[in-house]
Amino acid sequence: MTLSRRQFIGTATATFATPALIGRAIAATGGRDLPIPDVLDLRGGGGAPTLDAMAARTKILEGAESVTVGYGQGFLGPVIRMNRGETARLNLGNRIKEPVTVHWHGMHIDGAQDGGPHSPVDTGGVLEAALDIDQPAATLWYHSHIHQRTGIQVYYGLAGMLIIDDPDAPDSGLPQTYGVDDIPLVVQDRVFDRGGQMLYAPQGPTRMMGYRGSEILVNGAIRPKASVPAGMVRLRILNGSNARIYHFGFEDGRRFYQVASDGGLLPMPVAMNALTLAPAERVEIVVDFSAGATRLLSAPDSNMGMMGGGMMGGMMRGASPKAVADGGLFEVMSFAIDNSRTAAVTTLAKTLAGAPTPVFGEPVRRRRFALNMGMGMGMMRGGGSMAINGDSMDMAVINQELRLGEAEIWEVSADMMAHPFHVHGTSFQVLSRNGRKVDYASTGLKDVVLVDGTAELLVQVNRKADANQPFMFHCHILEHEDLGMMGQFTVA
Ligand code: C2O
Ligand code: CU
Ligand code: CU
Repeated sequence: MTLSRRQFIGTATATFATPALIGRAIAATGGRDLPIPDVLDLRGGGGAPTLDAMAARTKILEGAESVTVGYGQGFLGPVIRMNRGETARLNLGNRIKEPVTVHWHGMHIDGAQDGGPHSPVDTGGVLEAALDIDQPAATLWYHSHIHQRTGIQVYYGLAGMLIIDDPDAPDSGLPQTYGVDDIPLVVQDRVFDRGGQMLYAPQGPTRMMGYRGSEILVNGAIRPKASVPAGMVRLRILNGSNARIYHFGFEDGRRFYQVASDGGLLPMPVAMNALTLAPAERVEIVVDFSAGATRLLSAPDSNMGMMGGGMMGGMMRGASPKAVADGGLFEVMSFAIDNSRTAAVTTLAKTLAGAPTPVFGEPVRRRRFALNMGMGMGMMRGGGSMAINGDSMDMAVINQELRLGEAEIWEVSADMMAHPFHVHGTSFQVLSRNGRKVDYASTGLKDVVLVDGTAELLVQVNRKADANQPFMFHCHILEHEDLGMMGQFTVA
């Protein structure tokens, strides 16, 4: 079904999410089965399937249909799988009433393949993507990236998970039966109005601090329930939210193991019982469900800068999920044990076969990136912009020029609040945060890092990008990105 522009965009622009209105948002019931996204398997060559951006009415809430968009389906997109060493082909069509793109977040591909804001597909158009895959196995994602429209387009559903497999390193020893003991979790937060429509209307503080929702969705369902075998289960978690930072943990405090970060496996699993995941970050964890059923919870997101404590903070918390326990923890989803299935893995290996060894040259220069909020009443009233090093994103301006294959240190500093900083075309390594070395789990390959203060990154881009289709670096709080906290770079 194709909906008119008014039907798609109308829901977002006709109503403004004043705090009072968010207060009247409906409370939804969760607990339906976790949807396991279809797989669009591009491994092994073959054809070039078409994925159309389309609008639909989707049953997310009981008794209501919400206007959503998706890639090749009504809401969100399939999990796309690609093989290292192959060229993955796919056609992006557009059946919604505004231009879209498909950006391959985390992929090491040329600027011409990157799908950023310079590669729009107009309504009725088709883009033929051919992606040369050469990077370690990893959990990535894809989403639309139209300049100043990324927030709204991702919010309504133009996003999905992407998994790269490496045929030369087929068995890491981790669970790998998709949907059974290897489960994708796309975690997002949304606001629903009393008519059951998703509401996206950042303004004032919800524009400045990023737009958060009062309902938590996993794979498009509200606080769903997954049935898992009583053994080791691998969860590939994507924070696909516009702005919310999650602080995950299980209700019973059980330990779990981080086995991968944005860019691929860690050499050794890291035991933990709490995990912070900023927008656009991915993590793979292994959880032992022989310990029984539990719930995945999150602590509230307090990343609201100076607004956090004051009146504005109160308004922001109007859009907070309902607390389920002391300390304001809220439910993300629940897990039930399915005894009809046996776990393939009962003991987690001490080292993970095929984990990438980061290879960087000696850094030859240092660049500084100051993320600027551009505070002021202009911003509060809806004007204003955000910037990096004082420059707000301009499609016609190249902000940085890199040399192919040269390692550099990027020193990123955040203003007012923590910002998830993302670089296209590569994976980097985090060297330090606020002058201190990072812990082992944070040394893995990354393409997003939450900068709270300053961070030093080791960056080396081995793919080309010219001024016509440059790479981006930006804050992945999508409202900040849309307001201009983004810049462009070439690699030659
Ligand atoms: Cu997730 Cu510029 O992208
Ligand atoms: Cu990206
Ligand atoms: Cu930001």
